[in-house]
Amino acid sequence: MKKAIGIFDSGVGGLTVYKAIRNTFPNEDLIYFGDTARVPYGPKSPNTIIDYSLQNARFLLQQGIKILIVACNTSSAVAIPALQNLSAIPVIGVIEPGAEQAAKTTKNKRIGVIGTEGTVHSGAYTVAINKLLPEAVIFSQPCPLFVPLVEEGWQEHYVANIIAEEYLADMKKQNIDTLVLGCTHYPLLSKTIQKVMGEEVTLVDSAKAIAAYLSCYLDRENDGQKGKDTFYVSDNESKFSEIAQRILQDNISNLTRVHLYESWFKD
Ligand code: DGL
Repeated sequence: MKKAIGIFDSGVGGLTVYKAIRNTFPNEDLIYFGDTARVPYGPKSPNTIIDYSLQNARFLLQQGIKILIVACNTSSAVAIPALQNLSAIPVIGVIEPGAEQAAKTTKNKRIGVIGTEGTVHSGAYTVAINKLLPEAVIFSQPCPLFVPLVEEGWQEHYVANIIAEEYLADMKKQNIDTLVLGCTHYPLLSKTIQKVMGEEVTLVDSAKAIAAYLSCYLDRENDGQKGKDTFYVSDNESKFSEIAQRILQDNISNLTRVHLYESWFKD
């Protein structure tokens, strides 16, 4: 039987990762879990994020997946070692693919990283980029208000522009040539971010980077069967569907709300 790729995020933003993977691997079955009951993860402490991530992963492992994709940058930044201890299947987060892409893109070795507070404070992108490019200088900035802006559908609203100008004012002075969009929601703000940063700065979309990275684990061979999509959320399916429609420009079906079963909390 064909096993699916499991993807989890703190909520709906990880659909940017789902979309990139679906476009690259049209024949794979994908199971997406969005922890909409407990979003946002960005401002929470590392221990809480690790707990939630393990519970989400256990749920997906119970569905019999072959690879676990951690779409959430905040979970990827702090929970990958714990998640890798859970199971023998490959566990892939967004940080390494994004860091690799940034290291390949930069010419002047001055790189910006924006993300949630959790991601930026973890320093995970800085460590991953410097592993590949020790001489690179990294500038990081949390941009927490970008998440609700996207969820409200205001990514091109003038308010988004004002907030982006405010958050990115220091970043603009650093002469960076590459900026990592280190949060699931930020690719949806890329027009606004590009406008504020200027055309000379290349934006690295961690969602696209992980889809490309996955090619090392899967072949794109076409077995002629269109992949199946299954979506689960821990709360509010209708809100998820509404935002998903905006992100994917398509209606999603096969969406189920699951409760936080006790079995998720057991080792
Ligand atoms: N999915 C989160 C991330 O990529 C953003 C939303 C949240 O704070 O939970 O970091």
